[in-house]
Amino acid sequence: MSDSAAATITARAGIAQDTAFGAVTPPLYLTSTYELPAFKQPGQYDYSRSNNPTRDTLAEALCQLEQGARAIVTGSGMSACLLALQLLGPDDTLVIPHDCYGGSYRLFTNLAARKQAFKLVIINFQQSDWAEKIKAATPAMIWLETPSNPLLQITDVKAVCQLAKELSAKVVVDNTFLSPVLQQPLLLGADIVMHSTTKYINGHSDIVGGVLIAKDPVIGDELKWWANCLGVTGPAFDSYMTLRGLRTLVPRLQLQQQNTSELVSFLQRQPLVSKLYYPGLADHPGHAIAKAQQTGFGAMCSFDLAGPADALPVFFASLQLFTLAQSLGGIESLICHPGTMTHASMDAAAQQTAGIGPTLIRLSVGIEAPADLIADLQAGFNAVADWLNTSPPNNNTERVASGNTDKGSVKGSADQQFRLNPALSAFW
Ligand SMILES: Cc1ncc(COP(=O)(O)O)c(C=O)c1O
Repeated sequence: MSDSAAATITARAGIAQDTAFGAVTPPLYLTSTYELPAFKQPGQYDYSRSNNPTRDTLAEALCQLEQGARAIVTGSGMSACLLALQLLGPDDTLVIPHDCYGGSYRLFTNLAARKQAFKLVIINFQQSDWAEKIKAATPAMIWLETPSNPLLQITDVKAVCQLAKELSAKVVVDNTFLSPVLQQPLLLGADIVMHSTTKYINGHSDIVGGVLIAKDPVIGDELKWWANCLGVTGPAFDSYMTLRGLRTLVPRLQLQQQNTSELVSFLQRQPLVSKLYYPGLADHPGHAIAKAQQTGFGAMCSFDLAGPADALPVFFASLQLFTLAQSLGGIESLICHPGTMTHASMDAAAQQTAGIGPTLIRLSVGIEAPADLIADLQAGFNAVADWLNTSPPNNNTERVASGNTDKGSVKGSADQQFRLNPALSAFW
């Protein structure tokens, strides 16, 4: 979507629509129930689990942004996932990527194994045989998350949707990491888009919410029916907050992306970064596809710290700006250790298969001054370098990236720094 179209839709969402008093900002309808005009005569609204004007205003704006037919606002991203899975029965197969968000992975694997809600096939979409594996699975639904959390792997949505069409499978795309401003999966052929609105769409880390947007009104109506039946629709207050946050989505993302590209350039030069994950880098394996299917590279990036896992507390403790926290997409910069935080619900083997290493760090870049963010990370790297230089030798035995046990080399010459940074040769 063009920035100007998205900017207008988001800024004007719900504005100047109040017919009662002419309020410019739409009112918040906290009522749980609605008066019937007369006996046996239903009004437009009856009960807020089923429908609520504030929630409907948000749903309408998100539907327009993703260019769908129906949007169903839910109480969390996970309840949006759960809602989409209602389209499956015990004989249906769901294909998921091996490296999706840990909470989604937990939901899929537990519903399949403990409730036999559907059959599950886990695929690595980064391997060349993904299409053969999907054909063999004959799925009813394919779940995509692109860019993926936390490694920012890119999946070719168009290619998967083409194959899915041949197999009569539905494709659901978790678009949380980009928002509709940077990627519109329905236009790439997907059937349903899912968001954790907790993240960029709200953007201020003060609510938890989710949404499903369906391309086909029939599927949308079925999802709406299930949302009411299960009671997973989102609260009115959170919808109001999300609508308020949504209005600045475009300028927020512009600033966050600018800051991210400055941070990525800084991280590329860091000797204590052994591998950097950002689809905006020309050598990222998914760069070309990201460029084709996204209108921006987003404001998330991850990196492996070149050092032992024991260095992580040193790094995190020395940061003043980056807050160590689970979520992402807010205007404040957050940092997280996926292995013990967002992806802790994946066991060690699943984390290893997904490529989540022990020193992987994920950044959600906010709108602070980029020079301050860079200085903050630099302080963290300096603290780790000092710690490596002064700590007892056994602290260095697990040094993962350097292969260099000379502690003094961490702050050494450019040549030594290059040796400490295998990302420069091995990954890119
Ligand atoms: C990609 C992705 N999908 C889904 C979710 C779940 O959303 P929520 O926390 O709003 O339930 C998250 C949460 O971090 C996420 O990162």
